[in-house]
Amino acid sequence: MPPQSAQDLTSRGAGEEKVEARVTASYPLIIQGGMGAGVSNWCLARAVSRLGQLGVVSGTALDHIFARRLQDGDPGGHMRRGLDHLPFPEMAERIWRAYYIPGGKPGNASYKTLPLQTKDGPREMRELCIAANFVEVFLAREGHDNPVGINYLEKIQTPHLASLYGAMLAGVGYVLMGAGIPLKIPAVLDRFSNHETATYPLHVAGAQEGDDTTMTFVPREYMERDLPPLARPRFLVIVSSNTLATTMLRKANGSVDGLVIEGWTAGGHNAPPRGKLQLDEKGEAIYGERDKVDLEKIRELGLPFWLAGGYGSSEKLREAVAAGATGVQVGTAFAFCAESGLRDDYKQALIQKAIRGEVRVSTDSQASPTSFPFKVAHLEGSLSENEVYLARPRICDLGYLREAYRTAEGAIDYRCPAEPVSVYVSKGGKPETTREKKCLCNALLATVGLPQVRTGKYTEAGLVTSGNDLAGITRFLPPDGSGYNAADVIAKLLDG
Ligand SMILES: Cc1cc2nc3c(=O)[nH]c(=O)nc-3n(C[C@H](O)[C@H](O)[C@H](O)COP(=O)(O)O)c2cc1C
Repeated sequence: MPPQSAQDLTSRGAGEEKVEARVTASYPLIIQGGMGAGVSNWCLARAVSRLGQLGVVSGTALDHIFARRLQDGDPGGHMRRGLDHLPFPEMAERIWRAYYIPGGKPGNASYKTLPLQTKDGPREMRELCIAANFVEVFLAREGHDNPVGINYLEKIQTPHLASLYGAMLAGVGYVLMGAGIPLKIPAVLDRFSNHETATYPLHVAGAQEGDDTTMTFVPREYMERDLPPLARPRFLVIVSSNTLATTMLRKANGSVDGLVIEGWTAGGHNAPPRGKLQLDEKGEAIYGERDKVDLEKIRELGLPFWLAGGYGSSEKLREAVAAGATGVQVGTAFAFCAESGLRDDYKQALIQKAIRGEVRVSTDSQASPTSFPFKVAHLEGSLSENEVYLARPRICDLGYLREAYRTAEGAIDYRCPAEPVSVYVSKGGKPETTREKKCLCNALLATVGLPQVRTGKYTEAGLVTSGNDLAGITRFLPPDGSGYNAADVIAKLLDG
């Protein structure tokens, strides 16, 4: 087993051993898909990886998730245990002092409002990203020797560099990225394996030649001591078209180790249909033949690949392998198992709906500020209901899905179509873009039990995303319908 983390390495003495560039474990048959924000948490990923498949933590919004767990009093002491292993103890203490509330904040009190991430910082948030990503991966790796992955959305760019560095410090074995074209990630992984400065281009709407849109992260500005090199994780790209798969291979600035081919029935964000957007009578995006990936062409690329989107059964796993895939990536089945971060009342309500045959999942082409279609599971009391959506005051205070844009003065500012309409329009945004936009940032944190409370009165409602396969989760349930765990999903998938 090669060393996979700063701990493994430093226990041998810094610099004594040059780390092998790759984690040497063979490829998994089942990847438990990354599910943001906080649905695929360290508990779920650890349960899956312990069983020899690939557990993947979500890296989305981990800075806020981590700070809120500390403000909730760190139940179980897991965050503290993780922080104790961060190789930067002064940073760990700064974060602990800033956010930890013994016994947890009162239920009707708000969580701290944190500064939003921008192209250049602020440092407080960069440190929080390093620590939060480190701890999530560290905890998912505890108690076994199998690799753990981390998932990011390319579109959420400002936290990328600090997050990747934190995850690599904890020995992450795989980085998986979709929702964008992550051409420039491979070189970041290469450079961070030697603690070297890395850069990433921030997409800035309206940027002009000569504008500085490059984000830079210098590990040495955060390191409290020298560390030996880190293992370079494998990099898997999540794609929904042959063109994107080919582009990644031809143009990425370093090695891509595999592809996840995700269809439009998958949970979370989906790629938009090809060509002109057409909606059915329920207002849902229509997908067709043109949106199917040609697996023959994928096989010709010669990389390992996994199929995702409705592959959560042993029949579909066999079908994928017969089609030349290394295996499958499964999300929905794991999202509703006991170990996932999805809050319990939502989980139970949707399991019961599945048992009664009443689930409804739609592809909402308006809800997400990213403008990607977003899968929504309908649930009373959640943001899937129009009354709940209309009752919510528009506030943008987490800001992950903000778009960077060039101001008239040539500076960089940020805007989100789910923020107050007047604010968005004052930043040059079009009013029609704001229509039906939902604050997924606040909603998804509420979905994992970390809702913001506003002036002690209004509590943010959640929004559950799920694949079309939600009705099928009944196949993992025991006869009393109570619930199931990650091991049940894996056992069923491997059955036969
Ligand atoms: C609750 C939920 C959240 C998800 N969030 C993400 C995400 O943050 N990033 C991502 O790449 N995929 C995300 N996905 C997609 C999964 O990783 C996986 O590819 C997909 O669910 C596979 O299809 P299935 O749901 O039919 O099994 C999410 C899926 C679910 C169900």
